[in-house]
Amino acid sequence: MNKQVIWDFWAGYYERLWIQKYSLAPTRGEILRQLKMLLIAGKRYSILDVGCGTGQLLREIEAEFAEYDLELTGIDFSKSMVNRATSMGGNIRYPQLDVSDIDSLGKGFDIIICTHSFPYYERQDYAIRQFKDRLKLGGHLLLAQASQNNLYDHAAMLFVKMTTGKAKYLSVENVLSMTEKFFQCERVLRIKDRVFMPSIYCFVLKMCDEYPLEGE
Ligand SMILES: C[S@@+](CC[C@H](N)C(=O)[O-])C[C@H]1O[C@@H](n2cnc3c(N)ncnc32)[C@H](O)[C@@H]1O
Repeated sequence: MNKQVIWDFWAGYYERLWIQKYSLAPTRGEILRQLKMLLIAGKRYSILDVGCGTGQLLREIEAEFAEYDLELTGIDFSKSMVNRATSMGGNIRYPQLDVSDIDSLGKGFDIIICTHSFPYYERQDYAIRQFKDRLKLGGHLLLAQASQNNLYDHAAMLFVKMTTGKAKYLSVENVLSMTEKFFQCERVLRIKDRVFMPSIYCFVLKMCDEYPLEGE
Protein backbone atom coordinates (compact mmCIF):
# COMPACT_ATOMS: atom_id res chain seq x y z
CA MET A 1 0.00 0.00 0.00
CA ASN A 2 1.41 3.38 -0.81
CA LYS A 3 2.01 5.61 2.18
CA GLN A 4 -0.28 8.43 1.08
CA VAL A 5 -3.38 6.21 1.17
CA ILE A 6 -3.71 6.28 4.95
CA TRP A 7 -3.45 10.08 5.04
CA ASP A 8 -5.90 10.39 2.15
CA PHE A 9 -8.28 8.38 4.31
CA TRP A 10 -7.80 10.60 7.39
CA ALA A 11 -8.12 13.91 5.49
CA GLY A 12 -11.93 14.00 5.75
CA TYR A 13 -11.94 13.40 9.55
CA TYR A 14 -8.66 15.01 10.50
CA GLU A 15 -9.98 18.20 12.04
CA ARG A 16 -12.47 16.24 14.17
CA LEU A 17 -10.03 13.69 15.64
CA TRP A 18 -9.69 13.59 19.45
CA ILE A 19 -5.94 14.20 19.19
CA GLN A 20 -6.74 17.70 17.92
CA LYS A 21 -7.65 18.73 21.45
CA TYR A 22 -4.75 17.22 23.37
CA SER A 23 -1.93 17.17 20.86
CA LEU A 24 -2.41 19.03 17.57
CA ALA A 25 -4.11 22.22 18.82
CA PRO A 26 -1.64 22.72 21.72
CA THR A 27 1.18 22.25 19.22
CA ARG A 28 -0.25 24.90 16.91
CA GLY A 29 -0.61 27.19 19.92
CA GLU A 30 3.08 26.74 20.76
CA ILE A 31 4.13 27.41 17.15
CA LEU A 32 2.09 30.65 17.13
CA ARG A 33 3.79 31.71 20.39
CA GLN A 34 7.22 31.03 18.90
CA LEU A 35 6.36 32.95 15.73
CA LYS A 36 5.32 35.94 17.85
CA MET A 37 8.86 35.95 19.24
CA LEU A 38 10.51 35.53 15.85
CA LEU A 39 8.54 37.79 13.50
CA ILE A 40 9.11 41.52 13.35
CA ALA A 41 6.17 43.63 12.14
CA GLY A 42 6.75 45.33 8.79
CA LYS A 43 9.29 42.77 7.51
CA ARG A 44 8.36 40.32 4.76
CA TYR A 45 8.54 36.61 5.62
CA SER A 46 8.25 33.51 3.55
CA ILE A 47 6.98 30.55 5.61
CA LEU A 48 6.79 26.90 4.57
CA ASP A 49 4.77 24.27 6.47
CA VAL A 50 5.99 20.76 5.56
CA GLY A 51 3.43 17.95 5.96
CA CYS A 52 0.78 20.64 6.46
CA GLY A 53 -2.22 18.26 6.49
CA THR A 54 -5.44 20.23 6.05
CA GLY A 55 -3.65 23.58 6.44
CA GLN A 56 -5.02 24.41 9.91
CA LEU A 57 -1.76 25.90 11.16
CA LEU A 58 -1.24 28.08 8.08
CA ARG A 59 -4.79 29.44 8.34
CA GLU A 60 -4.21 30.25 12.01
CA ILE A 61 -0.93 31.98 11.13
CA GLU A 62 -2.69 33.98 8.41
CA ALA A 63 -5.39 35.09 10.89
CA GLU A 64 -3.04 35.79 13.81
CA PHE A 65 -0.54 37.78 11.73
CA ALA A 66 -3.06 39.46 9.41
CA GLU A 67 -1.14 42.74 9.62
CA TYR A 68 2.16 41.12 8.62
CA ASP A 69 3.53 40.67 5.13
CA LEU A 70 3.63 36.87 4.89
CA GLU A 71 4.00 34.52 1.96
CA LEU A 72 2.56 31.17 3.08
CA THR A 73 3.15 27.76 1.48
CA GLY A 74 2.10 24.31 2.69
CA ILE A 75 3.17 21.04 1.15
CA ASP A 76 1.85 17.55 1.74
CA PHE A 77 2.18 14.33 -0.24
CA SER A 78 -1.47 13.39 0.32
CA LYS A 79 -3.73 14.64 -2.46
CA SER A 80 -6.79 14.61 -0.20
CA MET A 81 -5.02 16.65 2.51
CA VAL A 82 -3.90 19.21 -0.07
CA ASN A 83 -7.38 19.34 -1.66
CA ARG A 84 -9.01 19.89 1.70
CA ALA A 85 -6.48 22.57 2.65
CA THR A 86 -7.04 24.37 -0.67
CA SER A 87 -10.84 24.19 -0.28
CA MET A 88 -10.61 25.97 3.09
CA GLY A 89 -9.37 29.14 1.36
CA GLY A 90 -6.82 31.73 2.42
CA ASN A 91 -4.01 33.32 0.51
CA ILE A 92 -1.89 30.18 0.85
CA ARG A 93 -0.47 27.93 -1.84
CA TYR A 94 -0.52 24.16 -1.39
CA PRO A 95 1.60 22.19 -3.86
CA GLN A 96 1.23 18.42 -3.49
CA LEU A 97 4.79 17.27 -2.81
CA ASP A 98 6.72 14.61 -0.95
CA VAL A 99 9.20 16.08 1.54
CA SER A 100 12.08 14.62 -0.46
CA ASP A 101 11.04 16.72 -3.49
CA ILE A 102 10.86 20.14 -1.84
CA ASP A 103 13.97 21.28 -3.73
CA SER A 104 11.48 22.16 -6.50
CA LEU A 105 10.31 25.03 -4.23
CA GLY A 106 13.67 26.72 -4.53
CA LYS A 107 15.52 28.47 -1.74
CA GLY A 108 14.80 31.46 0.39
CA PHE A 109 12.31 30.56 3.12
CA ASP A 110 12.68 32.49 6.35
CA ILE A 111 10.91 29.88 8.44
CA ILE A 112 10.16 26.20 7.89
CA ILE A 113 7.65 24.52 10.18
CA CYS A 114 7.11 20.79 10.44
CA THR A 115 4.56 19.59 13.02
CA HIS A 116 3.69 15.94 13.66
CA SER A 117 4.93 14.91 10.23
CA PHE A 118 8.67 14.26 10.60
CA PRO A 119 8.31 10.80 12.25
CA TYR A 120 6.78 9.49 9.00
CA TYR A 121 9.72 10.44 6.79
CA GLU A 122 11.79 7.52 5.61
CA ARG A 123 14.96 9.54 5.18
CA GLN A 124 14.93 11.86 8.17
CA ASP A 125 18.57 12.96 7.82
CA TYR A 126 17.91 13.87 4.21
CA ALA A 127 14.80 15.86 5.22
CA ILE A 128 16.88 17.91 7.69
CA ARG A 129 19.37 18.66 4.93
CA GLN A 130 16.51 19.62 2.62
CA PHE A 131 15.17 22.03 5.26
CA LYS A 132 18.61 23.60 5.63
CA ASP A 133 18.94 23.98 1.85
CA ARG A 134 15.52 25.66 1.51
CA LEU A 135 16.14 28.22 4.30
CA LYS A 136 17.80 31.60 4.05
CA LEU A 137 20.99 31.94 6.06
CA GLY A 138 19.94 32.51 9.67
CA GLY A 139 16.45 31.14 8.99
CA HIS A 140 14.53 29.07 11.53
CA LEU A 141 13.22 25.54 11.59
CA LEU A 142 10.35 24.88 14.01
CA LEU A 143 10.07 21.14 14.47
CA ALA A 144 7.38 19.68 16.74
CA GLN A 145 6.36 16.08 17.25
CA ALA A 146 5.73 13.25 19.66
CA SER A 147 8.99 12.09 21.12
CA GLN A 148 9.99 8.76 22.64
CA ASN A 149 11.89 9.40 25.84
CA ASN A 150 10.56 6.76 28.21
CA LEU A 151 8.61 3.51 28.37
CA TYR A 152 5.23 5.27 28.52
CA ASP A 153 6.03 7.21 25.32
CA HIS A 154 7.00 3.95 23.59
CA ALA A 155 3.74 2.26 24.57
CA ALA A 156 1.58 5.25 23.61
CA MET A 157 3.25 5.64 20.25
CA LEU A 158 2.79 1.94 19.45
CA PHE A 159 -0.93 2.65 19.67
CA VAL A 160 -0.65 5.73 17.43
CA LYS A 161 1.35 3.78 14.84
CA MET A 162 -1.59 1.41 14.44
CA THR A 163 -3.57 4.32 12.96
CA THR A 164 -0.84 5.99 10.90
CA GLY A 165 1.45 3.20 9.70
CA LYS A 166 5.23 3.10 9.95
CA ALA A 167 6.86 5.88 11.95
CA LYS A 168 10.10 6.64 13.73
CA TYR A 169 9.62 8.81 16.82
CA LEU A 170 12.91 10.28 17.97
CA SER A 171 14.00 11.15 21.49
CA VAL A 172 14.99 14.74 22.28
CA GLU A 173 18.63 13.66 22.21
CA ASN A 174 18.18 12.03 18.77
CA VAL A 175 16.67 15.22 17.33
CA LEU A 176 19.45 17.37 18.72
CA SER A 177 22.18 15.13 17.35
CA MET A 178 20.45 14.81 13.95
CA THR A 179 20.14 18.60 13.55
CA GLU A 180 23.33 19.91 15.21
CA LYS A 181 25.38 19.88 12.01
CA PHE A 182 23.27 22.62 10.42
CA PHE A 183 21.21 24.13 13.22
CA GLN A 184 21.83 25.75 16.53
CA CYS A 185 19.12 24.84 19.03
CA GLU A 186 17.64 27.99 20.59
CA ARG A 187 14.84 26.41 22.62
CA VAL A 188 13.30 23.02 23.38
CA LEU A 189 9.74 23.26 24.69
CA ARG A 190 7.64 20.48 26.11
CA ILE A 191 4.03 20.51 25.02
CA LYS A 192 1.90 18.39 27.28
CA ASP A 193 -1.74 19.15 27.71
CA ARG A 194 -2.73 16.03 29.65
CA VAL A 195 -0.82 13.63 31.86
CA PHE A 196 -1.87 10.63 29.72
CA MET A 197 -0.39 12.11 26.55
CA PRO A 198 3.08 11.01 25.37
CA SER A 199 5.82 13.64 25.31
CA ILE A 200 5.55 16.21 22.55
CA TYR A 201 8.46 18.58 22.00
CA CYS A 202 8.90 21.70 19.95
CA PHE A 203 12.44 22.54 18.81
CA VAL A 204 13.32 26.08 17.78
CA LEU A 205 16.36 25.67 15.56
CA LYS A 206 18.32 28.44 13.90
CA MET A 207 20.39 27.70 10.83
CA CYS A 208 24.08 27.95 11.65
CA ASP A 209 26.11 30.64 9.87
CA GLU A 210 28.76 28.06 9.18
CA TYR A 211 28.56 24.32 8.89
CA PRO A 212 30.94 21.60 7.67
CA LEU A 213 31.43 21.33 3.93
CA GLU A 214 30.40 18.15 2.08
CA GLY A 215 32.56 15.19 3.16
CA GLU A 216 33.92 16.81 6.32
C1 LIG B 1 -0.18 13.77 11.63
S1 LIG B 1 -0.36 14.66 10.15
C2 LIG B 1 0.20 16.30 10.66
C3 LIG B 1 -0.51 17.39 9.91
C4 LIG B 1 -0.24 18.78 10.45
N1 LIG B 1 1.14 19.17 10.24
C5 LIG B 1 -0.62 18.89 11.90
O1 LIG B 1 0.26 19.20 12.73
O2 LIG B 1 -1.79 18.67 12.23
C6 LIG B 1 1.03 14.11 9.18
C7 LIG B 1 1.00 14.73 7.80
O3 LIG B 1 2.27 14.50 7.19
C8 LIG B 1 2.05 14.17 5.84
N2 LIG B 1 3.21 13.39 5.35
C9 LIG B 1 3.65 12.20 5.81
N3 LIG B 1 4.74 11.81 5.12
C10 LIG B 1 4.99 12.78 4.20
C11 LIG B 1 5.98 12.95 3.20
N4 LIG B 1 6.92 12.01 2.98
N5 LIG B 1 5.97 14.09 2.45
C12 LIG B 1 5.00 15.03 2.66
N6 LIG B 1 4.02 14.91 3.58
C13 LIG B 1 4.02 13.81 4.37
C14 LIG B 1 0.75 13.36 5.86
O4 LIG B 1 0.12 13.30 4.61
C15 LIG B 1 -0.06 14.12 6.90
O5 LIG B 1 -0.85 15.12 6.33
